[in-house]
Amino acid sequence: MINIIYLRKDQVAAHRSAVEAVAAERIYLGLVTLPPFDPEQAFPLRLIENDWPMYAAMDGNDLVGWADITPVGVPECVHRGVLGMGIVASHRGAGTGRRLLDACLEHAPRCGITKVEVTVFTSSTAAIALYRRAGFTDTGVIKDYRRLDGVSYDALMMEKFLA
Ligand SMILES: CC(C)(COP(=O)(O)OP(=O)(O)OC[C@H]1O[C@@H](n2cnc3c(N)ncnc32)[C@H](O)[C@@H]1OP(=O)(O)O)[C@@H](O)C(=O)NCCC(=O)NCCS
Repeated sequence: MINIIYLRKDQVAAHRSAVEAVAAERIYLGLVTLPPFDPEQAFPLRLIENDWPMYAAMDGNDLVGWADITPVGVPECVHRGVLGMGIVASHRGAGTGRRLLDACLEHAPRCGITKVEVTVFTSSTAAIALYRRAGFTDTGVIKDYRRLDGVSYDALMMEKFLA
């Protein structure tokens, strides 16, 4: 059984391992090579310290997925949250992504987030289907967003208003 939990500070290394695993697939995340890992400066710590949405999917003691929403770092734009998420390959297609996304969307309003935005490669059909099913709508496509391994990727921008 998969449990969805709010990430604890002592789980940042496990979170990093899951992000690394999905990044290593090279086709889903904007980040392919992550910066060196520093547990004191790990990305989730800022979210946890601010009580921003930062959820993990646990298969027993194994962290198998994450989802987070970070407010845009400009005072006039903090009502806009940026979503990131991933599930390790072995655990996809079992409803975990939807549960993680729901946990984040339920949490976001209490941080003052009134809309959530996500950027997804147009080739990521599972993620796009998940976001559409959760009520996200398309805002536009950036053509030739990145070039990697001889492939040009287009990026779809999506948004969901919470209030
Ligand atoms: C996208 C991702 C997070 C979805 O998580 P998941 O646990 O596999 O998805 P779920 O089982 O919760 O499915 C939720 C919905 O997503 C869609 N979906 C999931 N897998 C799909 C697939 N292979 N093809 C089409 N739609 C799919 C469906 O709409 C599904 O709802 P339904 O089962 O009621 O039809 C996961 O596949 C993943 O981590 N992919 C690689 C990383 C990535 O793309 N991250 C997003 C970066 S923006």
